[in-house]
Amino acid sequence: MQKTFSIIKPDAVASGKAGKILSLLEDNGFRIVALRMTKLSTSQAEGFYAVHAERPFYRSLVTFMTEGPVVLMALEREDAVKKLREVMGATNPANAAEGTVRKLYAESIERNAIHGSDAPETAAQELAYFFTTVELNQL
Ligand code: CMP
Repeated sequence: MQKTFSIIKPDAVASGKAGKILSLLEDNGFRIVALRMTKLSTSQAEGFYAVHAERPFYRSLVTFMTEGPVVLMALEREDAVKKLREVMGATNPANAAEGTVRKLYAESIERNAIHGSDAPETAAQELAYFFTTVELNQL
C-alpha cells in the first residue's frame, strides 16, 4: 500500500464537484485516509508551489489556489501515486483522457480541478506539509 496527496482545487469545490470527485477516487480503489476542507493562505500556497516559483504562472496559480475553499486529502491504494495521476488525467484538460477528473471537471490548464503528487518522494513531502503524522496513521 502507498499513500499519496491530493487537493480538490477551488474551481471544482466552487462548482459543486467535490463530492463527485471523491466518489470517482473511491470508485478507483482509493481509501480516504485523511481529509480536510480549508482555505489556503497566500503563504501556504506559495510554500506548497515553491518548486514553481520561477514559472510565469506562479503568481496567478497562488491567487487561484487561495480564491476559495479546497479539500486536502491523504489517499491510499496500491501504486497510489501513479494511479492517481492516471485518474486525474493530463494537466491540460484539453489533453486529458475520457473519464478522467480533469476531462470531466477542469476548466483550463491552471484551473484544473485536482492536484496529485508526481512521485513518492513528493507525496511524502506534500502529505507532511498539510497533515500530522497522527492524522496520517490513526485510521
Ligand atoms: P498541479 O498539478 O497542481 O501542479 C502545478 C499547477 O500549476 C498545475 O496543476 C496547474 O494548476 C498549474 N499550471 C501548470 N502549468 C500551467 C500553465 N502553463 N499555465 C498556468 N497554470 C499552469
